Amino acid sequence: MFAERVLSGMRPTGSLHLGHYHGVLKNWIKLQNEYPCLFFAADWHALTTQYDDPRGIEQATREMVIDWLAAGVDPKKATLFIQSQVLEHAELHLLFSMLTPLGWLERVPTYKDQQEKLSNKDLSTYGFLGYPLLMSADILIYRADKVPVGEDQIPHVEFTRELARRFNHLYGREPGFEEKAKEAVRKLGSRNARSFEQLRTRFQQDGDASAVERARALLQEAQSLSQTDRERLLGYLEGTGKTILVEPGYLLTEASKMPGLDGQKMSKSYNNAIALREDAASVTQKIRRMPTDPARVRRSDPGDPDKCPVWPLHQVYSDAECREWVREGCRSAGIGCLDCKQPVIDGILKEQAPMRERAQTYLDNPALVRDIIADGNARASELARETMRDVRAAMGLGYRQGS
Ligand code: TRP
Ligand code: SF4
Repeated sequence: MFAERVLSGMRPTGSLHLGHYHGVLKNWIKLQNEYPCLFFAADWHALTTQYDDPRGIEQATREMVIDWLAAGVDPKKATLFIQSQVLEHAELHLLFSMLTPLGWLERVPTYKDQQEKLSNKDLSTYGFLGYPLLMSADILIYRADKVPVGEDQIPHVEFTRELARRFNHLYGREPGFEEKAKEAVRKLGSRNARSFEQLRTRFQQDGDASAVERARALLQEAQSLSQTDRERLLGYLEGTGKTILVEPGYLLTEASKMPGLDGQKMSKSYNNAIALREDAASVTQKIRRMPTDPARVRRSDPGDPDKCPVWPLHQVYSDAECREWVREGCRSAGIGCLDCKQPVIDGILKEQAPMRERAQTYLDNPALVRDIIADGNARASELARETMRDVRAAMGLGYRQGS
């Protein structure tokens, strides 16, 4: 079938912070060693909420991509690109808009949530409502089967799956589909054909998930099938039609455990963040100024790490021995808070050192970043164009292929 592929996007919010690193980027860096990966800056997505003030999106995109590279996202392994530079996303979004019932969009939970949350903005726009559709286009245009996302984005991936199914159902049925499918079943040979029909019935009548898996495996292994017949039968099996668009799965990214300077989750909007490439003096100062257990008014007052926002940072940055030293020293007032904070400062600076170094290369040589993105845009476009050929043909717009 289609190749394994990971795709993920990030809205350009400008410089990233250590929460992004621990939550998202470390995961991307792991994935780039395991699968072909595409990572993109979702700049059109930024416009869905920021249409009234688009200045800054370009700069934010640049900063963000430099942070990806600084963190260790490797352009030799992963394709890095910018959404708005691959126009096919917009074409697919438009075509999807034709077949998407309004109710589907209105029911996406983030739609009402975000409108309420960002009540200072007028988000009763067409683009904002269509946000999940744009995200679906982002995913489906690359036939990505693995989409790493945070929990909040899961409804969007579910939406994408439903849309792919609807698309395949509507357009995956070439004329004479049933006959062609039955013909292909015969090509399996009588024994396999019988098993396939039984499994198909069990799935379609009883929704038996293990049956559909066994039938899929049977098709994968059937040497006698052409690729076209295999796709046909996958569609026949599930009652969808030929697979033109691949239903994506998601890889849930665990919520970042990275705490902010006030003990809440690290977030730019809470003003409690440390930037990925923040300079050493500023990091030191921010940590030294962090509030601690309020019970420790004087150096001689014992404290409780569980009531202190510095403690969760030790859980990220310190080894067991150091953590023991903190717990013991805090409770007995054996150590002062500045002593306690030093290993955290050291840990953060050590983590940032290679990032700062990598970033410097790119800051000194902006053409390098431009080339990486241009390269990525070109590679992404090539994949997107392939899918669009099939999509156009399926929707009766295959002019360019002369069909
Ligand atoms: N909606 C995602 C977010 O706000 C960003 C995004 C856009 C995305 N398109 C995507 C993520 C496609 C994964 C795949 O975080
Ligand atoms: Fe917090 Fe450490 Fe001070 Fe205890 S010693 S209150 S854990 S900073």
